[in-house]
Amino acid sequence: MENNWTREKRYKPYSKWSKKYLHELKEKVNKSIWRQSYHIQPETGLLNDPNGFSFFDNKWHLFYQYFPYGPVHGLKSWYHITSTNLVDWNNEGIAIEPSTSDFTSHGVYSGSAISIDNELKVFLTGNKRNAHWQRESTQLTTTLTKNNLFSSLTPFIKQNKKYTDHFRDPQISKVNDGYLICIGAQDLNLHGQIVNYFSKDLINFTELGHIKLPIKNLGYMVECPNFIYVDNTPILIFCPQGLDKNILNYQNIFPNTYLIGKNFDLKTNTFETDQSLQLLDEGFDLYASQVINVKNRTLMISWLGLPDINYPSEIDGWSGCLSLVKELKIKNNYLYQYPVEETKQLRQNKKSYHIVQKAKINTDNCYELEFTVPKNTITEINLFASNDYQTKLIINTRKHIATLDRTNVGVSFATTYGTIRKTDLPIGEVKINLFVDKSSLEIFFNDGYKVMSSRIFVKDNTQNNLYITTTNYLFMTFYSLKTK
Ligand code: FRU
Repeated sequence: MENNWTREKRYKPYSKWSKKYLHELKEKVNKSIWRQSYHIQPETGLLNDPNGFSFFDNKWHLFYQYFPYGPVHGLKSWYHITSTNLVDWNNEGIAIEPSTSDFTSHGVYSGSAISIDNELKVFLTGNKRNAHWQRESTQLTTTLTKNNLFSSLTPFIKQNKKYTDHFRDPQISKVNDGYLICIGAQDLNLHGQIVNYFSKDLINFTELGHIKLPIKNLGYMVECPNFIYVDNTPILIFCPQGLDKNILNYQNIFPNTYLIGKNFDLKTNTFETDQSLQLLDEGFDLYASQVINVKNRTLMISWLGLPDINYPSEIDGWSGCLSLVKELKIKNNYLYQYPVEETKQLRQNKKSYHIVQKAKINTDNCYELEFTVPKNTITEINLFASNDYQTKLIINTRKHIATLDRTNVGVSFATTYGTIRKTDLPIGEVKINLFVDKSSLEIFFNDGYKVMSSRIFVKDNTQNNLYITTTNYLFMTFYSLKTK
């Protein structure tokens, strides 16, 4: 197996890797104790951003950034998966491969898709490096037809001289009588920007410049921007790398943020808002979210991972997974994110518990837990727990705060960024739905008012208990979830 990941190896053409190598890698991955049951994960190697999320030809399509040959950021392609219910996904294989001879010689980078008439229109970034390892970024388009074939990639926006070579991740959305494409960029002063283009026909694109926002500085680079309407409210969801912590306090290496607008003025490219920038997720591992409007719903999916962080599963030859698919709603000018209704199809057996002070539940680390912490209560849940290790979730409705503690989790990682995350809760009782899947944990407070998403790596299979202590009674519903 490879472990010395030189640049040469990371960018070796796919055709030069042997079948035997991939087969052995797959065998190794399949033995990993951290393989999940209902989350989207790569068969081998590394998964990062979700791409091209769409509904076309009576199915959901989703792609992700993929490097098959090892758990590292190497030569990226788009891996294709499809679903009829947003819960059960079929692997369709690599859909768009890098090509040595064109704009994608060093990777088919992130992008989006939209279904128009009888075609799926795809927009993505071609990443190329020259002999001096300088990057050239080209925005490319292609179409998927009903027989699952992509046409060739053609440029629709060339490198824009007003920005550095960090210019990528085109996201398409419908606005007014046309389409908006927003692109993550770095300007020549090395500031992060979201650059907009408008098109009526998706053939001619007019540059609108960078979107005008009341926030003065978006760090040094914006990745994966999304402009979307939730009902009639415009929102921006994006990843500002190097964001000043005075603008927004965050602990992860890079934040995934959102901003709710009052109005988007296309003529002046101004995003009007009286709100401040917010964290999309208050857990340890969420990035590169992609948001779409389909069938009057706003749906989002994210990478449960972060750039520049090493994940423990790398030792088993794989890394990265995607979040559950969530539906976004605005209630009282506040963004809610909650797993789509279809997620209930994962529920198998249901058990109810009435907990007075303490309880222990034995699990297979593949479940959903639903409960309401009454007001004026402290409830501590130890997840992925054995006698020695646990992930602690403390919900304190006296102080209106929840704490997620990964200090003694089993296999620790990214500890330089802290092992505790906290989130403020509203006054009163708090409803919790949490989803556990072997090496991931997604916690929803009050139907998605706050979310904490994290990867959790146990030391061994004895870490499969739930210990609960509570100062007030609790009713809990435990659902075992579908395993593959
Ligand atoms: C975000 C990102 C994108 C880029 C892709 C490459 O994680 O860096 O900006 O398109 O990953 O895999």
